Amino acid sequence: MEVKGTAALYPGTFDPVTYGHLDIAERCVRIFDRFIMAVAVNPTKEPLFDVDERLEMLRAVTGDMAGVEVDRFEGLTVEYARKRGAQVIVRGLRALSDFEEEFKMAAANRKLADEINTVLMLPSEKYFYLNSSLVKEIARLGGPVECFVPPVVEERLREKLASRAY
Ligand code: COA
Repeated sequence: MEVKGTAALYPGTFDPVTYGHLDIAERCVRIFDRFIMAVAVNPTKEPLFDVDERLEMLRAVTGDMAGVEVDRFEGLTVEYARKRGAQVIVRGLRALSDFEEEFKMAAANRKLADEINTVLMLPSEKYFYLNSSLVKEIARLGGPVECFVPPVVEERLREKLASRAY
């Protein structure tokens, strides 16, 4: 079902973006007219990549996806969604363990902004177990990450970890 004239916001830390995030994005661009992937400047996390690096990687890997916009935001997700005219917040749901956190977040966001709805999207089952920490840990231990992240991200991970190795 195509939702006409609808903009969706996909907020996240994206440290770094993985094939799991891109799988969600590919599904969403087929549904929504505008799809905004926004890097949260999240003071509660200590990311490996700074915001500009995360944005650069996101732009590189979504460059050929029509309808995708990449941005950053600080503060409340719903405020940013309002500012960008997004009626929908998209979040990935990989496993039952994601549900409780996503449910809480969706409920809180609804309390803050009743006109904005959360859509929980299942990625391909190939990516049900994937998260950015796992990718960083495998890369740190010298393992192969090409099945989890696009080549440009793999390259940036290698550079970043090499620069931190001493
Ligand atoms: N594929 C791969 N990994 C995925 C994934 C997918 N499809 N979906 C989620 N993940 C992983 C992420 O890689 C991340 O892994 P990590 O913890 O190892 O880094 C993890 O799931 C968490 O996902 P992420 O999208 O980064 O969410 P978050 O919980 O860090 O951030 C925000 C969520 C930014 C949306 C939330 O904190 C927020 O809204 N902040 C703004 C402030 C606000 O409005 N607060 C009130 C909200 S109620």
